[in-house]
Amino acid sequence: MSQLQFEKVAFIGLGLIGSSLARVIQAHALAKEVVASTRSEKTLSDAKALGLISQGYTNPIDAVQGADLVVLALPVRATQKVLETIKPYLTANCIITDVGSTKGNVVEAAKAVYGEALPAGFVPGHPIAGAEHTGVHAGKVDLFANHKVILTPLPTSSTWAVERLIQLWQAADAEVICMDVAKHDEVLAHTSHLPHLMAFNLVEQLANREDNLDIFRYAAGGFRDFSRIAASDPQMWHDIFFANKTAILKAVDGFEQQLAVIRKLIEDEDSQQLMGLLGHAQAARQHFNHMLAKKPLLENTQVTQQFTIQPGAKNFQGKFTVPGDKSVSHRSIMFGAIAEGTTHVTGFLEGEDALATLQAFRDMGVSIEGPKNGEVTIHGVGMHGLTAPKSALYMGNSGTSMRLLSGMLSAQAFDSVMTGDASLSKRPMERIAKPLRLMGAQIQSTGERGTPPISISGAQALKGIHYDLPMASAQVKSGILLAGLWAEGETSVTEPEPTRDHTERMLRAFGYEVKTEGNRISLQGGGKLVGTNIQVPSDISSAAFFMVGAAITENADVTLEAVGINPTRTGIIEILKQMGADITVQNERIAGGEPIADIRIQGTRTLKGIHIPEDQVPLAIDEFPALFIAAACAEGQTILTGAAELRVKESDRIQVMADGLTTMGIDCTPTEDGIIIQGKGQSGEWGAIFTGGEIESHHDHRIAMSFAMAGLRTSGEIKIVGTETVATSFPSFTQLANTAGLAIQVTE
Ligand code: S3P
Repeated sequence: MSQLQFEKVAFIGLGLIGSSLARVIQAHALAKEVVASTRSEKTLSDAKALGLISQGYTNPIDAVQGADLVVLALPVRATQKVLETIKPYLTANCIITDVGSTKGNVVEAAKAVYGEALPAGFVPGHPIAGAEHTGVHAGKVDLFANHKVILTPLPTSSTWAVERLIQLWQAADAEVICMDVAKHDEVLAHTSHLPHLMAFNLVEQLANREDNLDIFRYAAGGFRDFSRIAASDPQMWHDIFFANKTAILKAVDGFEQQLAVIRKLIEDEDSQQLMGLLGHAQAARQHFNHMLAKKPLLENTQVTQQFTIQPGAKNFQGKFTVPGDKSVSHRSIMFGAIAEGTTHVTGFLEGEDALATLQAFRDMGVSIEGPKNGEVTIHGVGMHGLTAPKSALYMGNSGTSMRLLSGMLSAQAFDSVMTGDASLSKRPMERIAKPLRLMGAQIQSTGERGTPPISISGAQALKGIHYDLPMASAQVKSGILLAGLWAEGETSVTEPEPTRDHTERMLRAFGYEVKTEGNRISLQGGGKLVGTNIQVPSDISSAAFFMVGAAITENADVTLEAVGINPTRTGIIEILKQMGADITVQNERIAGGEPIADIRIQGTRTLKGIHIPEDQVPLAIDEFPALFIAAACAEGQTILTGAAELRVKESDRIQVMADGLTTMGIDCTPTEDGIIIQGKGQSGEWGAIFTGGEIESHHDHRIAMSFAMAGLRTSGEIKIVGTETVATSFPSFTQLANTAGLAIQVTE
């Protein structure tokens, strides 16, 4: 702290904010001397009694002499007068700052006193913390903790002054942000001044009614919440409204326009548009929460979540319906949004990844109802109806959203930016950006190594290309085909191996012609999609954990109902069968253009290791973490080759699984494009295989769920750290797994 220590700090004004900062300075011994000047003698004597200052003055001149930090903690309108008064008494290197809610007028006041040559130590500031209460007694040492403090350094401000103020506010546990004065005033006009104005005005509106007593008496939570800030100091807000007049009037104009919109929707009884507006606002509010908290999208998930699994699971049984397919859910929103007419979706996966896609289209002006119990209604805007998002689209953990949207956004008339969470921010995006550039797109992966954020300049005329995919990736294939919808002429893609074909199937379901000839898929640009009904099957990738769980547990008997068995996704069934698992696929039928079936797995036969056929790799690409658990329980060696793609999933799934398996006592060797696992199982034996231990999931949902299944054959406790991303694809995982017979404990 000694570095930060000030010789003498002088507060001019000692209300809530000033006295709270004085408390911080005293608590951390940041100054040799703290003094204040206020008009009220009582405030000064109270402040002395509270131990906040050693000397108090009614004349600011007395306070500032010899001070190396002067804090103007008084009403903004008093700034000019005080500066005029104290100017001759300030030392050359004195830092002068303030705490007012508006900054443009503080700078104007300083210029009125100093002219353009403002002192180098002058750095206006604004702690965004406060309460309806005022005065020296209301101050709190932790008032600024975890709050933001905005500093608005001027061209004349010196770096040392800015740095010392940053340190001062950091000592108060505040998060310091620097921005320019005009930006500050515009932002605050919208986020603070307009809401206060509305609160005062609403209370005034109701107070003026004849029945006001009844209204206040019976007013429920809504009124109470909305009007809380109308209890703030009228003088202060009077001053702020004038001080930031220009920016506030602009914000009021915006409010009036928006009010007129919602008024008209109600007047016209335009249910669809009103639902769209309310749904968008609700989702945006939730989204802001998460962005601010830097948390995943679902309200109830936290970044510190972990699973603990005790040994001793006896059985694994039951009939389950796992949630909707992630790949199909994403596409249902994307295609419904650009279709003409309405699309109804059932079985939609309400996991964070698909919700990120849904939010992105809301942000681009699409009216979407739901999701509610898996039902979503999308009011399509047609091929040219998307509108520019107001800010960056946040794709969370979802590679599918980012890569498919790269294709769609490259063809739009507007610019866009996409960001993601820590895991997505490490994933390769050049694989999709490159072919899109060949089509004429202006797309950059602006991260360090061809990684997100993605930045796209709109209004480019795309032309169809033929592209030989260098890797088996349905996301890249889909991104290119989607850009092709808007491109001139034919767009075609050749895949090295067949990958999931949900894009092709669903485009056809929306009435768009897509040709599949061998491994070549093509479409003509310039057509249109027509809204339809989409029934999302249960996700075989989620079912896979239960399939493996049952296959490694003696006497297990699990049936997974209505699971999608699209032939581009059934590698897990084939591979487990080859390992000797007892699997039956029953009741095959078609739902919403996709084949589905009930899958029954019984723990009747122990597994044996195999060399996994390379042609099965793309068909089981998301299921390998779970299959590695099965391989560890099998007798003999399992060898995987041709699966380098696993290294660029939500985590490096080869390395992360190898690390976890090693921790749990399994002998395995990761290779460049696969892994060799020495199975510890023995024919006919169902005893413990894993030793237990602590596993790091690296923000990868499938790693977390796979190691949870290892709990069925463990001798020691398994702790899996960082399991919150399970909510991206399978929010009900622990509930279903525990019903089946596992004992997963979730701790936040
Ligand atoms: C997906 C494709 C696959 C898969 C991912 C979903 C899709 O990714 O791993 O979970 O919906 O198209 P790649 O295209 O990178 O193989």
